[in-house]
Amino acid sequence: MTTEKIPVILDCDPGHDDAIMLMLAFGSGRFDVKAVTTSAGNQTQEKTLRNALNILSLIGANVPVHRGCDKPMFRDLIIADHVHGATGLDGPEFPPEPALNPHPVPAVQAIADILTNSPEKITIVPTGPLTNIAVFLLAYPHLKSKIERISLMGGGISRGNITPAAEFNIFVDPEAAAVVFESGIPITMCGLDVTHKALVFEEDIQRFRNMGNQTGKVTAALMDFFSIYYRQERPELNGGAALHDPCALACLIHPEIFHGKNCFVRIETQGRYTTGSTDVDFFNALKQPPNAHVIYDIDREAFLKLLYNSLKTLP
Ligand code: BDR
Ligand code: CA
Repeated sequence: MTTEKIPVILDCDPGHDDAIMLMLAFGSGRFDVKAVTTSAGNQTQEKTLRNALNILSLIGANVPVHRGCDKPMFRDLIIADHVHGATGLDGPEFPPEPALNPHPVPAVQAIADILTNSPEKITIVPTGPLTNIAVFLLAYPHLKSKIERISLMGGGISRGNITPAAEFNIFVDPEAAAVVFESGIPITMCGLDVTHKALVFEEDIQRFRNMGNQTGKVTAALMDFFSIYYRQERPELNGGAALHDPCALACLIHPEIFHGKNCFVRIETQGRYTTGSTDVDFFNALKQPPNAHVIYDIDREAFLKLLYNSLKTLP
């Protein structure tokens, strides 16, 4: 385990599990968060931006929040209101106005400015569609070398959740995902193989509710709402709800609680049935050099302990 704070930019589309990812980022004390940028995905850009501001205001995090692209590179936006509700963060009540305001500089430019001015390399953690990151890479290719790693939630080795083959974040903007996976930047991919094991059950939710702070109560309300979908639509998970997005952050500070393999991954952009899938060459059939560390297993208890201890430090 490293002890130095890891400099990160968090690119997210809150989203219940994105919200918990943000709480983990600040509560763990292990990240130097340079900025939060918002992607359109679980809801429209306007709503994910507002949700990020609400969560950061709740936990008292004073960090620049930049509005990202409004839609995927070449496609219409698909949202996940069937999971995250009409606001994108249904469940808890938030004050009428967040305490934080968005920063006037747009996300893609902000990422470029931060990397340009940083003496050290920065890790980017995307937990929504990859539009902002791909547009950034296309616009500022010379800044690639300032990125330490991209640790993302998306894809899967063996299954999808929005189509049989595709996971939501990659499916929303497959062309953006292709740009990222072809970039040559080291990638950690937390796909559905691992995130469907990062489960939270009713008894876990009660522990967050009784944690003794406002963050715990809001977290429980978020998980209550999020669980409705999982209990109805994912009976295979036995009542558990998948905390996808915090995995992409947790694996940076506690790699020992995850298992993965370096693989060559390519993105299907033109499939008849499989557009948006991650084609993971797990057994190296193509004899290509790996471009991603594909995580597929997790110590769930250790992960929940990390979340609990981190969120407990927040207001
Ligand atoms: C991903 O899709 C979104 O709904 C979640 O926030 C997560 O990032 C899971 O497929
Ligand atoms: Ca997300």
